[in-house]
Amino acid sequence: LGKKIIHKTSTTTTQQIAHQVAQDNAEHGTIIIADEQTKGKGRMNRQWQSTKGKGIWMSIILRPDFLPVMAPQLTLLSATVLADVLAEHTALTPKIKWPNDILINDKKTAGILTEMQAEQDQIQYVVIGIGINVNQITEDFDKDIQDKATSLQIQTGNQWNIKDFIQHVLQSFENSYDSFMQNGFPDVKYKWESYGYRIGEYIKIKTLHKEWKAKFLGIAEDGALLTKTDNDEIKKIYSGEIEWFMR
Ligand code: BTN
Repeated sequence: LGKKIIHKTSTTTTQQIAHQVAQDNAEHGTIIIADEQTKGKGRMNRQWQSTKGKGIWMSIILRPDFLPVMAPQLTLLSATVLADVLAEHTALTPKIKWPNDILINDKKTAGILTEMQAEQDQIQYVVIGIGINVNQITEDFDKDIQDKATSLQIQTGNQWNIKDFIQHVLQSFENSYDSFMQNGFPDVKYKWESYGYRIGEYIKIKTLHKEWKAKFLGIAEDGALLTKTDNDEIKKIYSGEIEWFMR
């Protein structure tokens, strides 16, 4: 991982560059990093604020040799990698909010956007986009997200070296990816749940057509969200948004 690193001082989004170079046959493990993104993308078509020099904005190209249905497991794996790195290198206690928001003290510090190119049952490549808020102060965030977003600097009172942090993420990603490829998902599931945010509580699940309430049990063996409905039915959820009830 990271044998080839493409660094941009400024770009629209590293995801777009990743798609371009992947379609040009960039090898597995190619990394695209930007100091600034002018059109940073989040999940669900949201925007991702990517201020110059304040965070880690990068995309990783992977060429895993497995079925497209397994791609969500890679996203969950990536979330555990970020949680591990934050836990190891700061004194903070990260939580993973399903599927892959990294929270510190209930505020979002990092996010992951997975995009995949597949044909029939064959993955061409996966792009894992990672955004980590590192050295922002509250005023660096747009007003409308100031109460939801945070950074390592806000949480620790220290400035962090972005280059070092990228190294830690890449190293830890490589180790976890290798062990996932060898041992499969169970270790990832276990780790994900150890960081899981508000497991055991009641959530509201929203899909395109429906909305219902269930208990959040954790992650299933295949990476789905595991829930228990009011009539004690165990149900797996593969996509959608979830929301917790007030405590
Ligand atoms: C989310 O939480 O909604 C996902 C955020 C992902 C942000 C990263 S920053 C690097 C890469 N390039 C983007 O435009 N988005 C991802």
